[in-house]
Amino acid sequence: MAGNAPVISGGVGELADEKILVLDFGSQYAQLIARRVREQNVYCEIVRHNLPAETIGAKKPRGIILSGGPSSVYEEGAPRCDPGIFELGIPILGICYGMQLACDTLGGRVGHCHTREFGRASLKIGKAEHLLAGLPDKIDVWMSHGDQVNEVSADFEPLAATDTCPFAAVAHKRLPVFGLQFHPEVTHTPLGGTILRNFLYNVCGCEGRWHLSDFAERTIKSLRERIGSDRVICGLSGGVDSAVTAALLFKAIGPQLSCILVDNGLLRKDEQAAVISEFSDHFKSDLHVVQAEERFLKQLAGITEPQEKRRRIGYMFVDCFKEEAVKISGAKYLAQGTLYPDVIESGAAADGPAATIKLHHNVGGLPEQLGFELVEPLRDLFKDEVRKLGLELGLPEHLIWRHPFPGPGLAVRCLGEVTKEKLDVLREADQIVVNEIKAAGLYRETSQTFVVLLPVQSVGVMGDARTYENAVAIRSVNTDDFMTADWSRLPYDLLARMSTRIINEVRGVNRVCYDISSKPPATIEWE
Ligand code: XMP
Repeated sequence: MAGNAPVISGGVGELADEKILVLDFGSQYAQLIARRVREQNVYCEIVRHNLPAETIGAKKPRGIILSGGPSSVYEEGAPRCDPGIFELGIPILGICYGMQLACDTLGGRVGHCHTREFGRASLKIGKAEHLLAGLPDKIDVWMSHGDQVNEVSADFEPLAATDTCPFAAVAHKRLPVFGLQFHPEVTHTPLGGTILRNFLYNVCGCEGRWHLSDFAERTIKSLRERIGSDRVICGLSGGVDSAVTAALLFKAIGPQLSCILVDNGLLRKDEQAAVISEFSDHFKSDLHVVQAEERFLKQLAGITEPQEKRRRIGYMFVDCFKEEAVKISGAKYLAQGTLYPDVIESGAAADGPAATIKLHHNVGGLPEQLGFELVEPLRDLFKDEVRKLGLELGLPEHLIWRHPFPGPGLAVRCLGEVTKEKLDVLREADQIVVNEIKAAGLYRETSQTFVVLLPVQSVGVMGDARTYENAVAIRSVNTDDFMTADWSRLPYDLLARMSTRIINEVRGVNRVCYDISSKPPATIEWE
């Protein structure tokens, strides 16, 4: 993990002189708020909710956003910010819980709503000023709250209301403090972008200095300076993060970059060839392909427990990578495609929130074992920014928009024991599904679409003969952040084509199901 090791990161530098801080009160939307701010060309970081006012002031943000959160401000132990932040003179926008906290701190009364509001609401705007400048009298907004501000002190003025929420948007009269009970960051608030933009540009006086083209230029320059004449090793997975990492490094240091692709035998059909050809199209650099299918399959023989599969694959990956890396002489650095959400969720960000979710899936332990220093040029970026950056760097669209693929590969989609025969069946079925969804023009509209081979055989009839063969499930989900997901409403005709083709063309499969579970409670992968 990147936590303590010295890390060369990207070239945010003075692009972050104009920044917004999001204080995280445990909202599922904190990252979304930060992404929306960056979409408006203003750099944004997520920090702990209880950072001292002095520390926040020292960071010199142009504005502060208090996120939503699952707590009630009037409960004991509810997370609060340092009240000193309201005295810093820095504009503050509280969203949902953040608004309730701001009003509670500055003289309002928060309580249960008579009618809890979840979903779309119609906002009547009384004062189209500040945040709400330029908006019509009535707009659709997205509400998700059980509490609300029921009374405000004379210091606040209401700007907008819904039928059940009298203070849906407020402004403080003396301080640059604003509150929104609804969520401007979600797409269900169609004019939410205008509201955030008003906050950033009208209230905070931002100029919009965050541009990925500048980031790329600065990063390439700074990588070149920091790495000097040393060699860097970068693992390629076929995914967008490692490809963009390699592209940045290639622009910075050209032939001093060596890439390693470990073919663990758990890749999709023709994937190794695709990665190699993309690589040679875009990087004229050193590529090492480790053919390790046999070693991985041997490790997986007889193993059915999903976490044990993951563990074995992880160890074997490290072994293979290490064996190849030590052959590359003079390497001092290891590059990883760690992204900002990985850094936040693993608790590794300076002043960031505590780890909430999981350690991320990158090459754990390798840098320390091999004595490498880490290069993580993407650690300040969100996934959508990485995609844009990849396009700026000239990587092809099909690579940039490739669906994510788990590190343990098809092993976690081949339920039960993993064998070469089963993997081959899965690969054939998976390729049909992916080709069909691409042909239907729906690949980009879904976030992940794949096939799972079930450890189930069922009876069928083909021609005049009875069959007893495998069942597969098609999984297709739509999601913003992969933390929650909904199953994709694929057209019946498309599902029918996928099913017919799989049953006709893939030997050993006689039944196709469509997975209609959302996450939670199901996960995206089946194992
Ligand atoms: P779940 O199944 O937890 O998946 O809903 C969420 C996202 O994470 C990917 N995933 C993994 N990626 N190693 C990875 O690199 C793993 O062990 C792993 N498990 C799940 C999954 O494909 C989805 O995008």
